[in-house]
Amino acid sequence: MSVLDTVVFPVAGRGTRLLPLTKSVPKELLPVYDKPVLQFAVEEALAAGAKRLVFVTHASKPAIGDYLRPDDSLTETLRSDGKARLAEALDAITLGRDVEVIFTEQDEPLGLGHAVLMAADHVRGDAFGVILPDDVILGEPCLPEMAAAYDSGHMIAAMDVAAQDVKKYGIFRPLTDTSLGRVVRASALVEKPSPEDAPSRLAAVGRYILDTRIFDALRQLSPGAGGEYQLTDAIAADATSMNLTGYRFSGERHDCGSHAGLLGAANARAAEVTQAVAAE
Ligand code: G1P
Repeated sequence: MSVLDTVVFPVAGRGTRLLPLTKSVPKELLPVYDKPVLQFAVEEALAAGAKRLVFVTHASKPAIGDYLRPDDSLTETLRSDGKARLAEALDAITLGRDVEVIFTEQDEPLGLGHAVLMAADHVRGDAFGVILPDDVILGEPCLPEMAAAYDSGHMIAAMDVAAQDVKKYGIFRPLTDTSLGRVVRASALVEKPSPEDAPSRLAAVGRYILDTRIFDALRQLSPGAGGEYQLTDAIAADATSMNLTGYRFSGERHDCGSHAGLLGAANARAAEVTQAVAAE
């Protein structure tokens, strides 16, 4: 079994920051040039070897399931209409028969920690992945490189942010010199600290490899920052008994939960596609 047999995708959020774009289209299905936000996350999980994809969703977002389910009649119609290239484009996003897709619901917006806990019954193995699809990472796929570097405990993608931005992220308290190597050992993670209280400027990004013992910590959580059950707080509680590491990933992260991030991702993706076509 691959270390990342299971990857969890918390996709229950209403995407209020992006209204009216998200009034009837889930933010995970907004376009990044040629593909929806969610497609990048799914491809990254598959590249990391995942065989079970767990989507923690909400009843108001049936389009997520519609997107993930294969549509054989559409593919057949495209083929019989002589549109083989479009049919191929759909085939390319169809999940293989060896990949299991599970949906579970988070009825109330109680936080990321609560969302991940909703997936507990569906996780196999000693460790599993979590991808926050809003964080689109282009270039080198992030979760596979983390899986290759993962040893034990909790590992989270990490990047430096400006001092004024620490309040938007989980922030590491590093144990080692953060300027050396990709793997940074840390003693704690603090959710959305003020710049004065931040233990560093090394921020958590939406890719996690978690020891399944995280579920015990999640069950014992009290509400944290913003009154929500924070995944960061469960990770911090475990940091006293298991390894906590940040992984400085190679790709380029775009915050697709914001308008500017969506635009930046679309431009970067357009450049990627143009380059790939030129190289054909
Ligand atoms: C979540 C996490 C935070 C992390 C961020 C990365 O916050 O709680 O620790 O740094 O994702 O995108 P959110 O952006 O959902 O508020």
